[in-house]
Amino acid sequence: MIRFIEDPEDRRKIARQILEALTEWFEVTESREQYIRESADRPFWAAFDGEKPIGFICVKQTGNATVELAVMGVLKEYHRGGYGRKLFEAAKEYAVVHGYEFFQVKTVRMGMYEDYDRTNEFYISLGFKELEVIDEVWGAENPCQIYVMNLKTVLNTIASRHSYRGGYIAEPVPRKDLEAIAAAGINAPSGCNKQTTELIIVDDIEVLNDLKALIDPPVAQTAPAMIVVLTKRINAYRDKCYATQDYSAAIENMLLAAVELGYQSCWYEGHITDDDRICDKIASLMGVPDDMDVVCILPVGKAADEVHGPSKKPFSERVSFNRWGSK
Ligand SMILES: Cc1cc2nc3c(=O)[nH]c(=O)nc-3n(C[C@H](O)[C@H](O)[C@H](O)COP(=O)(O)O)c2cc1C
Repeated sequence: MIRFIEDPEDRRKIARQILEALTEWFEVTESREQYIRESADRPFWAAFDGEKPIGFICVKQTGNATVELAVMGVLKEYHRGGYGRKLFEAAKEYAVVHGYEFFQVKTVRMGMYEDYDRTNEFYISLGFKELEVIDEVWGAENPCQIYVMNLKTVLNTIASRHSYRGGYIAEPVPRKDLEAIAAAGINAPSGCNKQTTELIIVDDIEVLNDLKALIDPPVAQTAPAMIVVLTKRINAYRDKCYATQDYSAAIENMLLAAVELGYQSCWYEGHITDDDRICDKIASLMGVPDDMDVVCILPVGKAADEVHGPSKKPFSERVSFNRWGSK
């Protein structure tokens, strides 16, 4: 079980417990104490076996586009249990959600010490790539290998997208970002390329307030922008209408684009298409023609609260190989 640790005192305590048990890597008291001290003020996650902390990771910002894995450790008896990977995944998700582009980590170059070779192998297995080796950090006898990871990948963005229902920071979303998100939407595939989805970007404060006033019970009331999704329910061929699939693909593309650009959103469809038909009121407010339906609203903005996802069923419960149920 991985948990984000808020309390600086808890962070210090856990860091001490773990690092003092890992003297092969954290032998020098002075630098170990520095790691412990600095961990208290940095984003920090711990892995637990029951209530016992068995590992932690903490990160620091090293530039406006980059975070560094400042320090991590897992008790030796728990090595190869997947805890290091889970800790890193939590830190990586934080970095993606906060809009960072790169993750870096430093260690002693491969080929110097056996323990550090395993550390190098671990970072490589997480997807880190060699950036550079420099002697100036720890001296020529301990050459410093810098690894880097590009965070702006489709798979990272997918893994970090969650329906966000918290508050938004009161900061306008630049037009170019809203356009990029909308472009991702209309670039989605559509059945027979009928392109049945259209969008209305709402960033004018008066229109936005009129739109929000229609949403009952209220949601996303602090969002600085919204995208209204429209569909034209025409047949793609014969009697086959793919409008639902078309706008679903467009919505997912937009949700991912929003996350990649450092924003949060949520697919509000059920809420507005229910019996009270808020969608029709929105259509009338926005002057939507009769042959189109409003099907969804997507708030867009920076998160003011924590971003977290619901638990999902395990992979093996939903995915088979070659034949249903075959794992
Ligand atoms: C077709 C559809 C309609 C949805 N409508 C709503 C909605 O009206 N209100 C809401 O809060 N979430 C809505 N959601 C979001 C889901 O609740 C959410 O995707 C689901 O709980 C899984 O969480 P995740 O998106 O964080 O993975 C909708 C999602 C889909 C695909």
